[in-house]
Amino acid sequence: MEDIVLKNCRLLEREGLNDIGIKLGRISKVGRELKGEEEYDVSGKIVLPGMGDMHIHLDSAMTLGKPRYNRSGTLLEGIEIWGEYKKSLSKDEVKERAKKAVEWMVVQGITMIRTHADVTESKLEGLKALLELREEMRELVDIQVTAFPQDGILTDKGNLELLEKAMEMGADNVGMIPHNEMTREDGVKSVSLAFELAQKYGRGVDGHVDETDDEGSRFLEIVAAETIRRGMYGRVAAGHVTAMHSYNNAYADKLIRLLKRADVSVVVNPAVNLHLQGRYDLYPKRRGIARVKELLTAGVNVSVGNDCIMDPWYPLGRGDILQSLYLLLHAAHLTSFDEVVNSLRLVTYNAAKTFGLNDYGIREGTIADLVVFDARHPLEIVRDQPTRLLVMKRGKIISVGEPEKYRLSSGKQINFSSSLP
Ligand code: FE2
Repeated sequence: MEDIVLKNCRLLEREGLNDIGIKLGRISKVGRELKGEEEYDVSGKIVLPGMGDMHIHLDSAMTLGKPRYNRSGTLLEGIEIWGEYKKSLSKDEVKERAKKAVEWMVVQGITMIRTHADVTESKLEGLKALLELREEMRELVDIQVTAFPQDGILTDKGNLELLEKAMEMGADNVGMIPHNEMTREDGVKSVSLAFELAQKYGRGVDGHVDETDDEGSRFLEIVAAETIRRGMYGRVAAGHVTAMHSYNNAYADKLIRLLKRADVSVVVNPAVNLHLQGRYDLYPKRRGIARVKELLTAGVNVSVGNDCIMDPWYPLGRGDILQSLYLLLHAAHLTSFDEVVNSLRLVTYNAAKTFGLNDYGIREGTIADLVVFDARHPLEIVRDQPTRLLVMKRGKIISVGEPEKYRLSSGKQINFSSSLP
């Protein structure tokens, strides 16, 4: 007898309908006719393992318009506005905003979050807030905090010390932003410094890398080479990497092979980078998204981040990783039937690999982080972004959702479900 059984689940991992049995927070059985102390019939709806947002800035979430709006729509004006706002940050204020953002994410089925905390703010209030939130929200979601030197590691005296202090305080990953350093040489050196700190503290590396339309920005190859030289395979992620869009094809091919060899994960942020990139172009305007189709074909691990929710860089967002996935599929021409269905791996299994989780997925022995969608076909999850009927974290139900309903004045009820087989 299991503690809990979800009956009649449609899974990506198996044919037909299956029951999921849960004991002591883990999946104990997957099969037919399972019995549990508590049973929930999900009536053929799809159940995925918990989804992941692998790149979000929770410290700046929900600060839109403070102290002013970003008029140019550029990354650099966003950094200026955030620089003005962050002088007045307090731990409690960051926590309040970040907690609201995390709650939005959790009810939409996100059970793994990797957030950045800006550590070029001298009192480290944002970092303190997110480290506390990581512990306080542990029942709902797993959070990793990356110490992110937004203004650069070598741009100001003291930034490297702040980054190290953040690691001492318990940040999970070392960040970097080599394209924002003063010179290319400083950028290269900053990558090396970040890796040194990661090795010293036994943590991973999670960089902002080549977030620019400058085809001359080539720090990702340095990141891959450092990963190989230091043997940090599988412990390094590179976020944004939008310059890859602008490289010539021969160089992009060499780079993608290097990423595969280094086992570096790429994290794309399609909503924010469709908005920020191409701002210096007339027409045609670049999309500015990493070459996701080619990366996936080469076997590189690609996952997705929302990056921002209503902040100096991006005025929109509601924390739903499926919105970002939906945009990515359009921008990257991943819109064949199979590509859409398979894209769900980016926000589940690929996210878990970026996050460093091994006991993940729907099979016996894994942690029972599960999401039930109001959908019967995987394509519907991407197309409709339907209600998350139930979210489970370590075998406990932490959220329930109600499907949206519309009625024509004739009385006929309308929903957006299709008749896909
Ligand atoms: Fe970012």
